Amino acid sequence: MKFPMVAASVLLLASARVAAELLTADKAEADINTVELQRVLWNLNKIARDNGGTRAFGTPGYKASLDFVLERLQKRFARELDTFVQPFTWTFDQTLNISVTGPEGENVFVVSPQYNPATPLPGGITASLINTPVNDATGSMCIESQWDGIDATGKLALVKRGTCAVADKLKFAKAHGALGVILYNQLPGTDYPTPTLGAENIGQLVPVGIIPLEVGNAWIDRLKANENVVVNLLVDAISEQRESWNIISETKAGDPNKVVMVGAHLDSVQAGPGINDDGSGTAAILEIAGSVKKYKGFPHKIRFGWWGAEENGLIGSSYYTAKLSPAEADKIKYYFNYDMIGSPFPKYEISSYNNSGIGPKLLQDYLVSKGKTVEFSDFDGRSDYAGFVNLGIPVAALFTGADAPWDPCYHQACDDLDNINWEALTINAKAAARALAVVANSLEGVPPRLLAIRVSD
Ligand code: PHE
Ligand code: ZN
Ligand code: ZN
Repeated sequence: MKFPMVAASVLLLASARVAAELLTADKAEADINTVELQRVLWNLNKIARDNGGTRAFGTPGYKASLDFVLERLQKRFARELDTFVQPFTWTFDQTLNISVTGPEGENVFVVSPQYNPATPLPGGITASLINTPVNDATGSMCIESQWDGIDATGKLALVKRGTCAVADKLKFAKAHGALGVILYNQLPGTDYPTPTLGAENIGQLVPVGIIPLEVGNAWIDRLKANENVVVNLLVDAISEQRESWNIISETKAGDPNKVVMVGAHLDSVQAGPGINDDGSGTAAILEIAGSVKKYKGFPHKIRFGWWGAEENGLIGSSYYTAKLSPAEADKIKYYFNYDMIGSPFPKYEISSYNNSGIGPKLLQDYLVSKGKTVEFSDFDGRSDYAGFVNLGIPVAALFTGADAPWDPCYHQACDDLDNINWEALTINAKAAARALAVVANSLEGVPPRLLAIRVSD
C-alpha cells in the first residue's frame, strides 16, 4: 500500500506546483473560505477567553494574539514572507476597582471611564456632594462661566453627563477645588457606554464615577432640601507605560520600490474579545497572506500590517507611518484597511478620499457582483488608515458598521464568535483578496502619492 500513496502525493505536489504560478484575482478569491476564517476567529476567541476576556493593548491576550499570527507568518509562511515585529510603548490604563457608596452605605451602580485617575486608597474619597447647574442645551458644566461662583473645595461635585467630553468637566471641577466628580448619566437606566478621558489628559483630572440618572436625581432632591449628602468614591486604577507591537510581513517576491499594503488592527478593547472589531480584519488579511504566498510572478511587493493599540487612539499604525522616511512612504503605492468587516447586521461601506484611485471601484465591483448594495463614505480618521491618508498614500477601506443596528455588541463582551455575519466576512475578505491581487499585478488607476494633503477634500 505504501507505493501508490507516495505516488499519489508526488502527483499532488506536482499539480500544486503547476498551480502555483501567477497570482490572479480569481485565484486569490477562490483561496478565501469561510471555514478557514472561522478557524482564525475561533482561535482569537479562545485566546480572549483564556486571558480574562480581552485581547487589549497591554494585556496577555494581546501578546497571545501576536504569537498566534506570528506562528503562521514565521513558521508556516516563512519561506515566502519576511516578517518583522515593530515595538512601541504607550500608556496602559486599567480601572481595577471602582465603587460609589451612598449616604446610607448603599452600593451604587457605577461605570469607570478609560484613563480614570485613582483616588487615595484604601479608603477612597469620602466627602459631601455639591450640586452643579444643569443645562441640557449647551451641556452641563462644559464651559468656564457655568462654574463661576462654585467653590467645590473638599467636595465631590455632582455633575450631569452629556454634550462635551467628560474630561472637560473634570478639568473645571479640579480647578474649582473638587476632590472628585460624581457624574450622573443623561438618560435613564444602566445600559450606558464607557467613555474615555484620553491619555493626553493624564495628570490634569480628578477621579470620577458615572452613576445612573435616577440616583443622581434622588441626591439632587436631598441637596435641594439642604441635606448634607455624604458619598464615598473609590477608584483603584493603574496607569503605566507598556510595550506593544505591530507585525509587518511582506512577500519576498515583488519590487521593494513598489509595495502594496493591507492592514487590520490586532488589539481589542478591554471590555471584550474583539471578534468583529477587529478579529474580522485580522482573519481576512491572515488568510490573504496564506493565499498570496502560494503564487509567484506578481511585480509589486505585498506587505501586511497587523496594528497594535488601535483602540487607544490608532497608536501602532500612527507609529508605523510616523517612522516612515519620505522615501519609504513613496514606495507604498496603495494601502487597504479592514476594520470591522463582519458585523452581524452588515452594511457594505467603502471609505475613500480624494486620492483613492481605483481601490474603491475594485472593492465595489465585487460586492455588487454578489448582489450587495454599497455605500460610500469619506475617511473620518477613526481607523488605521489615518496615518496613510495623512501621507497622501492612496487608500481604500471596507467597513460593515459599528454600534446598533449593525453591531449591537460593538466594544462589548458579546463581540464574540456569535457576533459575526459569516457571509459578509467571507465576501468582504474575498473582495479584499481580489483588490490586492489586482494592484499587486498592476498600478493602473493608482494615483501617485498626494504631497499637499487636504483631508477635508
Ligand atoms: N476604528 C473603530 C474601532 O475600532 C471602528 C471604525 C472603523 C470606525 C472604521 C469608523 C470606521 O472601534
Ligand atoms: Zn474598536
Ligand atoms: Zn476597530
